[in-house]
Amino acid sequence: MLHETDDLFSSAWPDGPAAPKLVGAAPARALAYPELRYMGSKRRLLPWIHAVLDELDFESALDPFCGTGCVAYLMKAMGRRVTASDFLLFPSIIAAATVGNSSAMLDSGTLGRLLSHAPDDDFIARTFDGVFFTAADRAFLDRVSAGLRALDDPDRRAVGYAALFRSCLKRQPRGVFTVSGDLARYDDGRRDLRLSLEEHFHEQVEAFNAVVFSNGRDCGAMRADALAIDPSDYDLVYLDPPYVPRSDDNCYVKRYHFLEGLASYWKDVELMPQTKVKKIAKRYTPFSYRRTALAAFEALFERFARSTIVLSYSSNGYPDLATLEGLLSRYKSRVTVHERPHRYHFGTHGSVKRASVTEYLIVGR
Ligand SMILES: C[S@@+](CC[C@H](N)C(=O)[O-])C[C@H]1O[C@@H](n2cnc3c(N)ncnc32)[C@H](O)[C@@H]1O
Repeated sequence: MLHETDDLFSSAWPDGPAAPKLVGAAPARALAYPELRYMGSKRRLLPWIHAVLDELDFESALDPFCGTGCVAYLMKAMGRRVTASDFLLFPSIIAAATVGNSSAMLDSGTLGRLLSHAPDDDFIARTFDGVFFTAADRAFLDRVSAGLRALDDPDRRAVGYAALFRSCLKRQPRGVFTVSGDLARYDDGRRDLRLSLEEHFHEQVEAFNAVVFSNGRDCGAMRADALAIDPSDYDLVYLDPPYVPRSDDNCYVKRYHFLEGLASYWKDVELMPQTKVKKIAKRYTPFSYRRTALAAFEALFERFARSTIVLSYSSNGYPDLATLEGLLSRYKSRVTVHERPHRYHFGTHGSVKRASVTEYLIVGR
C-alpha cells in the first residue's frame, strides 16, 4: 500500500491565507460550479480530486453518492461519460440539471411563465407557517413549484428545481432545516438572509443556466441506492458515502428534509406533522451506523470490484483508514492513499466553528 501526502499544493489549508499551488489545474468550468451548503460537499476539494483523477485511466465514471453533483460535474468537465446518482431525490435532480443535461436552460420566456403560474395548492403556506421563511416566500414556493411541475421538459424542470433548492439553502439560516422560527432572529445583515426567495431564485436560475454544457458524451443522472446499481458499465467509480461520525449524526434527511419534500411537493414522502420542523421520515442507509458500516463498505467494494475505485474518506470517520485500506486490498491489487488537510466550516459569521480533519482519497486499481 502506498501513502502519498500530496505535494501538488502548498502545505497551507485550502481555505487558509496562502493560495494552493496547483500543478495540473482543474477545468475552470468545474471550479465555477455553484457551491451548495451541503454536509460533506467536496466542492472546495475539487482541485485536489482533479489532480488525483487526472492520473487515472478511465473513459466512463459513476458517482453513486453524488450529493451536490460537483465531483460528477468535474468528471464531465474532464470529458468523461459520467453518471451521477443519489438515493435522495433532490440531489439526483440537481445532477440531472448539471450532469445529465447538455443543453436545456431556463430562458426568460419560460421563467416568466413559471413566475406567473397560478398555485394549485397552498401546502407550503399552510404546513410551514411559523416554521420556515416568510409568508411571501412560502406563497412564492407554492406558486413556482406548481409552475415547475407543469413544465414538460424534464431537463429545464431540473434546472428550475436546482435553482430553487439553492435559493432555499441560501435563504435558510445556517443552510439547514433543523432551525425554525422568526428569520429576524438570525439576521446578521448577510445578503443571503436579506434577499427574498424570489430574488434568490432569479440569481440562481442564472447560476444554473451558466453551468449547462455538453461534453459530447452521453452523461446521465438517476436516483438509486448505490448498493443496487448495475456496476458493469463504468471504468471508474468515485465513492463518497456518508461516514459514521464520532459524535452527532450524519442524517441528510434531518438537515435537508424540506428540499427532499419540495422535490416531489411532499407526494412521495412521509411527513411527520407532530415534529416542530415538519420533518419527513428518514431513509435508512447502512453507512450511517457502526454496526452496519463495515459490511456496507465491503458490499460496495465487491459490487464495483471490476472498476477503478476512488473512495473519499475522512480521518474522523468510522471505520478507520487502515481498516478500509485492508478491506479494499481484498478486491484490488494496488491501493494508494492520498492525504490532504481540510477544514470544514459550520455556522454563521458570528459563530463559525471549524473542524480540522485529514481528507483521504483511497484509490484501488
Ligand atoms: C458525503 S455526501 C456526498 C457529497 C458529494 N460528493 C458532494 O461533493 O457534494 C453523501 C451522499 O450519499 C447519499 N447516500 C447515503 N446513503 C446512500 C445510499 N445507500 N445510496 C445512494 N446514496 C446514498 C446521501 O444522500 C448524500 O447525498
